Amino acid sequence: MYDLIVIGAGPGGYEAAAHAGRMGKKVALIEKERLGGTCLNVGCIPAKTFLRSSKLFHECGEAASYGVILGSIAFDMPAVVERKNRVVGTLNKGVEGMLKRAGVETITGHARLISRNAVQVGAQRYEAANILLATGSRPAKPPIPGLRSEGVLDSDTVFALTRVPEKIAIIGGGIIGLEFACFFNEVGSKVSVYEMLPEIAAGCDLEISRRLLQIMRRAGIEFNLSAKVLGIEGDTVRYAASDGAESRVTADCILNATGRAPVVDGLGLEEVGVDFSPKGVKTSDLGKTNVAGIWACGDVTGRRMLAHAATREGIVAVNNMFGKKDRIRYLAIPSVIYTHPEVSSVGRTEEEVKALGIEYKKSVVPMAVAGRFLVEHEGGTGMVKVLAGARFGEILGVHAIGDASSEFIVAAAAMIETEMCVSDVSEIVFPHPTVSEALREAILGVH
Ligand code: NAI
Repeated sequence: MYDLIVIGAGPGGYEAAAHAGRMGKKVALIEKERLGGTCLNVGCIPAKTFLRSSKLFHECGEAASYGVILGSIAFDMPAVVERKNRVVGTLNKGVEGMLKRAGVETITGHARLISRNAVQVGAQRYEAANILLATGSRPAKPPIPGLRSEGVLDSDTVFALTRVPEKIAIIGGGIIGLEFACFFNEVGSKVSVYEMLPEIAAGCDLEISRRLLQIMRRAGIEFNLSAKVLGIEGDTVRYAASDGAESRVTADCILNATGRAPVVDGLGLEEVGVDFSPKGVKTSDLGKTNVAGIWACGDVTGRRMLAHAATREGIVAVNNMFGKKDRIRYLAIPSVIYTHPEVSSVGRTEEEVKALGIEYKKSVVPMAVAGRFLVEHEGGTGMVKVLAGARFGEILGVHAIGDASSEFIVAAAAMIETEMCVSDVSEIVFPHPTVSEALREAILGVH
């Protein structure tokens, strides 16, 4: 009998298992594929290794403006895939070691709930006082005819590409679509994005997403907005253009980036009576499902589909199941789009603040107010936007576009988590010269 069985070894599941193990609990972690889940194997880490290479390749073209003269350069896609595999392998081993040190038993296989405190893996039955579902998500396949055909790539299969496509059509202008649009554009593909909404990066602060759109268009990416993809036949994408007319485009690669769907099938949820829908397993803010002893965290809940949100949700669930009060403040979870330039946000967008009728003050500064940004980004563009309450100056939201913003957004998250006001921030010392000084300037600019 275990204290806890965790199903799924992504950043939600493995961190939760290790946390419980370090608390001295008897823990089993069941995974059917590789440790690390989507994030480590076919998500965040592979995407960032690809983007590191494409950025370096692109920057070689700008080297002369920094006084560096290069000979000829080339992009070696198989070498990029190879490096990605090496990085992933190293991190896989890191997760394995961490779990061992925490005393977690890992079991390989597909787990299925058979009661509120038992799971079946092959012929074996395991029992636990608590079960944490952390089965993640997979690329969504909306009912678009042809989308399921083998030739259509998704965010799992794209990492196996061994050549740079000449022309790629990307369906969806969300986070995945934008990050890959950036990658393929930097390595020389002709990229066109088809997004059914009138804006890219839905949910992002509009002033920021519009700036990103402008920058990406200027970099040569074609964006078709209010363009709904209707079907795919071979190498042809059929879509309804913004004027309603049906159009077709051909490309030698097609990438489906229309979202991710929680993995709720094959888990025995119906049999055990866990409340769920295709949008995910329903949970309270503590991670409880409707069935006592069964908890869930991460993408399977369909709440915030972000690796670091999954980790925090898992830890909150573990703390609560073993009697330690804890809660997650969803508003203080930062998010980053790793385009070039990066987009980093935390808290409420200006649209949300307006819709909620909150009286607010706003400050926007260019990233270039930070000397370090100018030093590192010749001709670089970016801005930091801060929203604060009109009366007390409490930080409501911080939204930034510009490289290195992903490294300082955590400071803004800490300010929101601890409910700081502009006057509190004025006492914090930001190191000089760093890009983070743009955040300081933006916050102190709120009057
Ligand atoms: P998404 O939900 O962000 O974007 C999908 C886009 O596809 C939407 O804008 C939608 O309007 C569009 N779309 C859907 N059907 C369409 C059609 N028929 N024609 C044209 N457009 C259509 O999903 P995405 O980008 O696939 O990402 C999935 C999840 O993974 C997200 O929740 C995201 O937060 C997470 N993720 C996070 C990353 C990060 O934090 N950097 C990186 C990658 C993924």
